[in-house]
Amino acid sequence: MRYDFDTVLDRRRTHSLKWDHCRDSFGLDDVIPMWVADMDFAAPPAVVEAIERRAAHGAYGYVSVPESFWESAIGWLERRHEWTVERRWLHRAPGVVPALSLSVNAFTEPGDAVVVQTPVYYPFFHAIENNGRRLVRNPLIADGDTYRMDLADLERKIDSRTRLLILCSPHNPVGRVWTRPELEALGEICIRRNLVVLSDEIHMDLTLPGHTHVPLATMSPALADRTVTCVAPSKTFNLAGLSMSLIVASNPELLARYERQFDASGLEIASLFGTVALEVAYRSGDEWLDQLREYIAENVDFAERFIRERIPSLRFIRPEGTYLALVDCRRLGMPQKALDDFLLRTARVYFDSGSWFGEEAAGFERINLGCPRATLTEALERMERAINSRP
Ligand SMILES: Cc1ncc(COP(=O)(O)O)c(C=O)c1O
Repeated sequence: MRYDFDTVLDRRRTHSLKWDHCRDSFGLDDVIPMWVADMDFAAPPAVVEAIERRAAHGAYGYVSVPESFWESAIGWLERRHEWTVERRWLHRAPGVVPALSLSVNAFTEPGDAVVVQTPVYYPFFHAIENNGRRLVRNPLIADGDTYRMDLADLERKIDSRTRLLILCSPHNPVGRVWTRPELEALGEICIRRNLVVLSDEIHMDLTLPGHTHVPLATMSPALADRTVTCVAPSKTFNLAGLSMSLIVASNPELLARYERQFDASGLEIASLFGTVALEVAYRSGDEWLDQLREYIAENVDFAERFIRERIPSLRFIRPEGTYLALVDCRRLGMPQKALDDFLLRTARVYFDSGSWFGEEAAGFERINLGCPRATLTEALERMERAINSRP
C-alpha cells in the first residue's frame, strides 16, 4: 500500500496547538506554523480505524491495559531496534515530558545536579529546575555543520551532587544520531562517575538514510544497569495528543523508584485512545513508517537545496534523525527577538526560536519538516521573499 503524505490537511481550529497558537497568541491567522514537534500528517490508517471503532462504542470509562499492549511494544523494539526487552522492565507515562519530571524526582534529591547537553529540548530545563534541582549545562561543540559532545567539559562539571544526565538521543534540536563510539565514551564517564542516565529516545524511529539509532541500554550490561529510557509512538506516528509513552529500565531498583513517583502522582489510569493507538501502531505501523521516513528524507534534501540555492544567507544544519532541522540565521545580523518577529510578521512563518534551546542556539531557528512538500515549499518561498527583499 502506498500512503499519502502529500495531501494538505487543514488543521486550523482542530484544537491544534501547532496551528492555532499564532492566531490565539498573536492574532495572526495566515502564518505557516513549523514549530512544535508534531507532523501535519494523519496517523497510519490502521490507527485511525482502531480509534474510530473504539470511539463508536460510546462508553469511555476507565482503562484496563491489556497484555497485548506490552507485547506490541516489545515486538516493535525487537523488530526496529534489535532491542530485546522484557515485560517486567516496562512502565508507562502519560508522555515523555511527564516522565522526565517523574524521573528527576525518582533519581535525584532536591539540590542535586542534573546534566544536559545544550542546546537541547527545553522541557529538560523545566523538569530539572521546576523540581528544585540544579541544572548543569554541558554544551555541545559546534564543529562545522555538525555537533559533537564535549566530554572533557562533562567530566569537569560533574561534582559530588551530580546524580543524573538526561541524554537526548537522537538529539533535538541538532539532529545528531549518536554513534556507538560516542555513546560508549559518554557511557564510560557515566559508569565511572556513577550517574544515572535518563535517555530520551522519543525520536528513535525517525533516523535519516545512512544513520542507525543505537538504544543506549543495548550498549553494555553495565550501562543498561544505570539507564532509564523513554520511548513513545507519539513522534513516530503523530500521536502526541493521545498521551501515551513508555519507560524501559532493566534495573529493578531504578524501575521501582520510577514506579513510586508514578503512583504518588496518581497516574495509574491510562488514556483510552492512547492505549488503543500505541498497540495498533507498534503492531502494524512498519510499512507506514518506512514510507514516512522516505518522505521526510526528501523534505530534508529539498529544504537543504532550497536554502543553499535560494536563501544563501541562511545555513541549514542537516539532521541525521528527527524531522526537525536547525537553521543558522546569524548572518542576517538580527538579535533573536527581532529575527523571530521578522519571520512571524513579515515572512509569515513560525518556528521554534533557537534561544529556547539554550544560548548556544541564539540566532538559529528550528524548523519542523514533518509536513507535505507543498506546505514546506510555501514556507521556504515566504522566507525567500522576506529575506531576499530586505534592504
Ligand atoms: C526530545 C523530546 N522529548 C520529549 C518530547 C515530548 O514528549 P511527549 O509529547 O511525550 O511529552 C519531545 C517533543 O518534541 C522531544 O523532542
